Amino acid sequence: MTLSQLLGPTGFVRAEASSIVACASRAPSIHNTQPWRWTFDGHVLDLRADRTRQLHVADRDGHSLLISCGAAAELTALALRTHGWTSNVSVLPDVTDPDLLVRFTLTGRDQSDPQAAGMVTVAAGRRSERRAFGPGPVAVEVIDRLREAAQFAGVYAHFPSRAEEMVELAVVVSSADRFQRADPLFAAEVASWRRDGADDGIPDSVIPEVPAHSPRHTDMPLRDFEAGIAGSQLITAGADEKPLIAVIFTDTDTSADRLNAGRAMMRLMIQAELDGIASCPLSQSVDLLAFRTRLRTLMSWNGHPQMMLRLGHRPAGHPAPLTARRPVDDVLTMT
Ligand SMILES: Cc1cc2nc3c(=O)[nH]c(=O)nc-3n(C[C@H](O)[C@H](O)[C@H](O)COP(=O)(O)O)c2cc1C
Repeated sequence: MTLSQLLGPTGFVRAEASSIVACASRAPSIHNTQPWRWTFDGHVLDLRADRTRQLHVADRDGHSLLISCGAAAELTALALRTHGWTSNVSVLPDVTDPDLLVRFTLTGRDQSDPQAAGMVTVAAGRRSERRAFGPGPVAVEVIDRLREAAQFAGVYAHFPSRAEEMVELAVVVSSADRFQRADPLFAAEVASWRRDGADDGIPDSVIPEVPAHSPRHTDMPLRDFEAGIAGSQLITAGADEKPLIAVIFTDTDTSADRLNAGRAMMRLMIQAELDGIASCPLSQSVDLLAFRTRLRTLMSWNGHPQMMLRLGHRPAGHPAPLTARRPVDDVLTMT
């Protein structure tokens, strides 16, 4: 008997696959490009890169695409476990087809995993928090849990805390930020993904309003999505922002490492949410290979920095609305 027969009527399987992909699509992606698609034949669920959605300027080598798809792969794995599916997971299973990123081969049916279900629920309500975080440092035991969550398949997280390290890091991030802002092609690409009422891109409603006369005081500059136009999310005036910074590393720098770094980032973000901590990717200094190399050299890090996040206590007040995703039918093909 085939697995699809075991799993019951085709309509049921299709509905479950749609639900899994809907969960997985809540993953964060650079500029909310959602550079992914899935195919499902009743037995094998494939996650593929959608290269038509790769950023040509900010993501020339497809690094951020792989991080984004890694996050989607992690949510796919969690959603499968939530639905009680067991699966074998292979990363980049076909050397002749590099856009086939992760293959989930269904192996059978088990109980729904309550821990995975809880994580999927948290991921569904997560959003990138771009306001100033609430006051106070993140507790050491929470940082330990975040570190543990990100420890996955050769990936690890580091939380710089020494004053000199923070200063050096801020300098590198600022210079990457300035470099990108000064590039008209980069600015044009960001502007092209600023969209209201769309099912991808970044709407005004999630971008902070930063009045020109009152710039943010932050240890680490945020990516500026404003391009001269104020967003609509109010931030606390005069806050002296000292976010917790997480850097996600791998020992080597293969495509599989980048996918796994994306999976680890998703795990870290979910653990943060479970601990009442909000997060936002901060990727200016890791978008491009040249920046990553410079960052690694200047910081004298052994590992390869793949991703940076800022984290802190969830701020008071209304959070930004959830950013939209494309309908499942646009990203899932069932055969
Ligand atoms: C690889 C990657 C890089 C990102 N870089 C930034 C960034 O530099 N600044 C920022 O504010 N958000 C960044 N984001 C967050 C995305 O903009 C966000 O995930 C997307 O708009 C969807 O919104 P959501 O996370 O609230 O669901 C990044 C996300 C990923 C996956």
